[in-house]
Amino acid sequence: MSHLFITFEGTEGSGKSLQARLLVERLRAHGIGVLHTREPGGTALGDQLRQVLLTRQDTTLEARAEALLMCASRAQLVAQVIRPAVARGDVVVCDRFADSTLAYQGGGRGLDLAELRTVISFATAGLVPDMTMLLDLPVGVGLARKRADSADWNRFEAETIAFHTRVQQTYLMLATAEPARWHCFDGEKPAAELAELIWQRVNTRLGHP
Ligand code: TYD
Repeated sequence: MSHLFITFEGTEGSGKSLQARLLVERLRAHGIGVLHTREPGGTALGDQLRQVLLTRQDTTLEARAEALLMCASRAQLVAQVIRPAVARGDVVVCDRFADSTLAYQGGGRGLDLAELRTVISFATAGLVPDMTMLLDLPVGVGLARKRADSADWNRFEAETIAFHTRVQQTYLMLATAEPARWHCFDGEKPAAELAELIWQRVNTRLGHP
C-alpha cells in the first residue's frame, strides 16, 4: 500500500510524458501497483473534452471556458479514476494535473491565479499531488523537439514563444513557492539519466532508499 500521487509537469517537448512512462514501467517492475493517466483526458468525458480543447479548428474558445473545461475533465478523472486508485493503495502517475491550469490558463492566458485555485480546488475536492516532477528546459528547445515530432500541432503548441515563456515562468514560480512538493529537473539531460534521478526521488519517498 503505497498511497502516492505523482504528477509530471513541463512546457511543450519537455519529455515529461516519456519520463512518466519510464517511471510507471519501473514501479511495475518492482511489483508496485500503478495507475497511469493523463490530462486532459483519462475518462470517457475527459477524452471528449480533450478533442474540444486541443483541436485547432475552433480558435474562438475563451480562456475562462478553456479553464473550466480543463477542470471539468479533472473533476471526472479525480472522482472516477484517481481517488479509487489512491484508495486501493496504487501509486498514481498523472501526466499533467492542476498545475498545468495555473501555468497555461494562468501564466499563459493571463487568468487570475487565485481565482483559478478556487475552481481547481472545487474540481479536485482538494486533492493535491504528493510529488510533482517539473522538467524544465528552454522553451525554444522544447518547441523544436515537438516540431520534429509532429507536423500537426495542437492549439497550445501553436501559441507564441512569449506564451510558452510565461507558462515556464509560472511553473518555476510555483515550484519555488512549494519546494517540498516540487522536484525540478533539467529537461535537457539525457532521458536515461533523468529517469534515474526521478526514480531515486520516488524510491526514497516510498521508503526504500
Ligand atoms: P498534449 O498533447 O497532451 O501535450 P503534452 O504532451 O505537452 O502534455 O496536450 C495537452 C495540452 O493541454 C498541453 O499543451 C497543455 C494543455 N493544458 C492546459 O493548457 N491546461 C491544463 O490544465 C492541462 C491539463 C493541459
